[in-house]
Amino acid sequence: MKKLITVTALMLSALCSISASAAEGDVGVAATMDDRYCTTCHGADGVGNLAIEAPRLAGMEGWYLKRQLENFRAGIRGTHAEDIPGLEMQPMAEKLSNESITDLVDWIGGWEYVPAAVTVEGNDRQGRTAFQSCAACHGANAEGNEALGAPALAGQNDWYLITQIENFRSGVRGSHQDDTFGAQMVTMSKTLRDEQAILNVVSYINTLQK
Ligand code: HEC
Ligand code: HEC
Repeated sequence: MKKLITVTALMLSALCSISASAAEGDVGVAATMDDRYCTTCHGADGVGNLAIEAPRLAGMEGWYLKRQLENFRAGIRGTHAEDIPGLEMQPMAEKLSNESITDLVDWIGGWEYVPAAVTVEGNDRQGRTAFQSCAACHGANAEGNEALGAPALAGQNDWYLITQIENFRSGVRGSHQDDTFGAQMVTMSKTLRDEQAILNVVSYINTLQK
């Protein structure tokens, strides 16, 4: 309950800063700058915020960031009834213009890469074996592969990676008919048998931080 109140307050403050700027009639660059409310939830340093399940943005590839913002904006992501964190993010992207997205990708691209803190512990040796099939798309060091549309996983918050794999497995993410990239992950996530297998593979990804 406390969490819900906190998130609602954050969403309100982020949305208020948008309408306040609109009321002042800002145009052009100034209006774009006012869409930079992301750190309210993603952390002042952009390294994420576990309390509201908002992941690290610092160090994220620009092409992936852009696609996710467009997916949230179009409702391809963050509209499933059980996707509580996704439903928090979706309205944040809904108001963005193409110009704002370009500005945000530029701005966030300038943040320093900081690997997220390790918070989970599984069997990384077993995870390493499971990761061999992930490496085909995400790269041997989980560094990502733009040509395949697969983002870097190394350095991302481990709790976020776990939620996303679970979301793909249950169809909470990746089941929208226009989510072609997400659909690939729905299939892949099913190769991880259970919670322990997910924990193991994420523990191995933790060992790959730059
Ligand atoms: C009200 C809090 C909140 C605000 C404000 C917010 N976000 Fe988010 N964001 C979240 C949450 C929670 C998630 C996790 C969604 C999920 O689990 O799928 C998220 C997820 C994301 C993702 C997906 C990352 C990935 O690895 O797939 C991106 C990209 C993102 N946010 C960018 C932004 C940007 C850019 C802004 C500023 C315009 C912003 N967010 C503002 C809460 C917020
Ligand atoms: C066939 C290529 C492919 C394989 C193999 C693959 N992935 Fe992915 N993965 C993707 C793509 C593409 C995305 C981006 C989905 C999107 O745009 O929403 C993704 C996204 C993810 C995400 C979400 C990252 C984020 O920031 O939200 C996680 C976590 C992930 N993959 C983990 C894995 C794991 C673990 C494996 C191995 C069991 C794996 N993937 C195998 C293609 C693949």
